[in-house]
Amino acid sequence: MVFKDELEKYKNIVDNELQKYLEKKECPEKILNESMEYSLMAGGKRLRPILVIATYELFEQNIEKCLPYAVAIEMVHNFSLIHDDLPGIDNDDFRHGKPTNHKKFNEATAILAGDGLLNNAYIVISKDLENTEDLEELKTKIKLFNEFSLAIDRMIAGEYVDTEYEGKEISENYLEYIHLNKTGALLTLSVRMGAILANVDKKTLEDLTNYASKIGLAFQIKDDILSEEGNEEVLGKPVGNDKKLGKCTYVSKYGLDGAKEKLRKITEEAIDIITTYGERAEFLKELAIYIANRNK
Ligand code: IPE
Ligand code: IPE
Ligand code: MG
Ligand code: MG
Repeated sequence: MVFKDELEKYKNIVDNELQKYLEKKECPEKILNESMEYSLMAGGKRLRPILVIATYELFEQNIEKCLPYAVAIEMVHNFSLIHDDLPGIDNDDFRHGKPTNHKKFNEATAILAGDGLLNNAYIVISKDLENTEDLEELKTKIKLFNEFSLAIDRMIAGEYVDTEYEGKEISENYLEYIHLNKTGALLTLSVRMGAILANVDKKTLEDLTNYASKIGLAFQIKDDILSEEGNEEVLGKPVGNDKKLGKCTYVSKYGLDGAKEKLRKITEEAIDIITTYGERAEFLKELAIYIANRNK
């Protein structure tokens, strides 16, 4: 397995699938639809849907079954980014090397585009529920639907605490709380969705959840590090903004070296868990390494 090729393969699957859900028709809200498409197709890494599919593929092959869930989580993720960039939250002008949604369109459109993407995620999943005839499978998916909603609730909570603590001293526990919720919740959900749709046993689900929670935290620690020392052009979003806003990050709390050490340790723990799944989990192992080493 060549990791980069696999990553690209998954990304293409996600990009193709997302295309199917874009609304192109002439209508009074055409620009709103364009603004949703603008953010959704702006060049994200697709990490969350890739996690859904790759985890599912550890156990099953018919990936069509998990695609609606992969699409839905990417919609939610982009909703979170559009709102995160708004003047009332992080006030960022650039993402993916392009103007943020509210800069390209306007604030009202960006707020509604975020709402629209969130709601479209629910449309996609509820449609899949409607199309599920097997009652056992339906029951599993309804439980998952609830879990999906609860993870979004956690993401929003994390975003809230992140803004509340701007410019303030924060405890280690609260900082971890922000990261595990604002970023970890959706990443953990991604892995769990793939695993639950593949009907894994309890112990496997527990292991994968632990792996996911660690890469979720690692992902945000790396985001904090990149906000301090990343390359703005490669990153496609501003560097130094966390500092400017007085954000509580792993870098502000532990220093650059401290944050890097925590990232290293958590990544190692994630790798230890996933390594027990052997050769077939090679991609997920490489993904943990990629998260820690990425430059965008
Ligand atoms: C950025 O997420 C926001 C965080 C949760 C740190 P990604 O880095 O996954 O965003 P994409 O790749 O641009 O979609
Ligand atoms: C993003 O957190 C988390 C969510 C959008 C839920 P950040 O504000 O740290 O991420 P970037 O750096 O803007 O992507
Ligand atoms: Mg933010
Ligand atoms: Mg931000």
